Amino acid sequence: MKSQVIIIGAGAAGLFCAAQLGQGGKSVTVLDNGKKIGRKILMSGGGFCNFTNLEVGSQHYLSSNPHFVKSALARYTNWDFISLVAQYNVPYHEKELGQLFCDNGAQDIVDILQKECIKGKVNIQLRQQISAVKQLEHGFEVVANGQSWTCEQLVIATGGLSMPGLGATPFGYQIAEQFGMNVISPRASLVPFTYRESDKFLAALSGVSLPVRVYSQSGTSFANQLLFTHRGLSGPAILQISNYWQPNESIRINLLPHDHVADILQHQRQSSPKLQLKTALNRILPKKLVELWLEQGIFQDDTLANLSKVRLNSVENIIHHWQFTPNGTEGYRTAEVTMGGVDTHQVSSKTMEALNIQGLYFIGEVLDVTGWLGGYNFQWAWSSAHVCAQGI
Ligand code: FDA
Repeated sequence: MKSQVIIIGAGAAGLFCAAQLGQGGKSVTVLDNGKKIGRKILMSGGGFCNFTNLEVGSQHYLSSNPHFVKSALARYTNWDFISLVAQYNVPYHEKELGQLFCDNGAQDIVDILQKECIKGKVNIQLRQQISAVKQLEHGFEVVANGQSWTCEQLVIATGGLSMPGLGATPFGYQIAEQFGMNVISPRASLVPFTYRESDKFLAALSGVSLPVRVYSQSGTSFANQLLFTHRGLSGPAILQISNYWQPNESIRINLLPHDHVADILQHQRQSSPKLQLKTALNRILPKKLVELWLEQGIFQDDTLANLSKVRLNSVENIIHHWQFTPNGTEGYRTAEVTMGGVDTHQVSSKTMEALNIQGLYFIGEVLDVTGWLGGYNFQWAWSSAHVCAQGI
């Protein structure tokens, strides 16, 4: 079987690239191991797909080659994708922080990609087990389900390792290594942290959520919600900081980012000296959290009048400077993305073609490009897919 271009992976990047190539007149075949296209898209954004963000720049991405994303993001912007969504009359809304979600559901995005692929006469082959990829004198041979396919250009769009239940495999990394390319060690990211033994008492707070500002050791910080779970800490603030966390490091959490607890307590001491510390804290923090701190002896209750400077300092420390050392992360099972991947120093930022292997391209999450939470990972899929299609 022959196809001008073969794309491996029918996810966000693979489908978008295929549609554009097909509409440009190329014969394109997409091979995927799953029984459905765009499975991660359907799961994304809690089922409503946060498909891009109103503000997108290279500062929203991590890569060992930080400039790599600039060209693709400039050539296919968030506004380009937003206008595609609008062309299909798909209703969407901004949830917070510029994050755009579908009103009706993520299926709307999969439907757009499918219709775009139909326009481009793309041949999509599902349930394909790929057993070999070989470079030929001109092009490549791909063996899938025992059948041999040849193509002039081969695009790897197999994504990262998160959510193995949705078909994630290390295939893209293996292909890169087969062709002598470097792969930056992958690790789970945008992922909840787990408790160390000594923090497991916090499991009692499971379900409690509050706005925080969380800091990595290198000083990057995010203000958003933190959620206590029975296994550890989650919520958007924690997922964001996980991109910047290294094993054994601690993170700092400000549990009251918009106020100063010392000022509040000093003020209340003057107006109501007999007020209990617990009552004062219950007014500004989740009750369950305050109760657990007291239960655990993290501080003792007393009237505000009796609150010594030392005790005030310790309350201030736990609220504004909580040092939390994760045991680890929940790993690929719940991670939204994979950090690391195919080394972008060995890929053209203009076309996504491997610098040393003519005709071999890598797009989307398989590359060492990780976006923040907030629609940035899909935007990378769209932008990298677009420049690849233009480059072929
Ligand atoms: P993607 O993973 O989408 O597609 C890869 C495809 O390759 C899959 O279809 C897979 O089956 C196939 N494949 C893998 N190995 C293969 C093999 N050996 N042979 C054949 N096929 C193979 N991002 C965002 O911007 N906004 C959001 O709201 C969310 N939400 C979200 C929720 C959850 C639960 C997850 C897990 C992830 C997100 N993300 C997200 C991240 C986003 O889903 C991700 O970055 C993109 O889907 C990456 O697109 P790709 O096309 O690169 O890979």
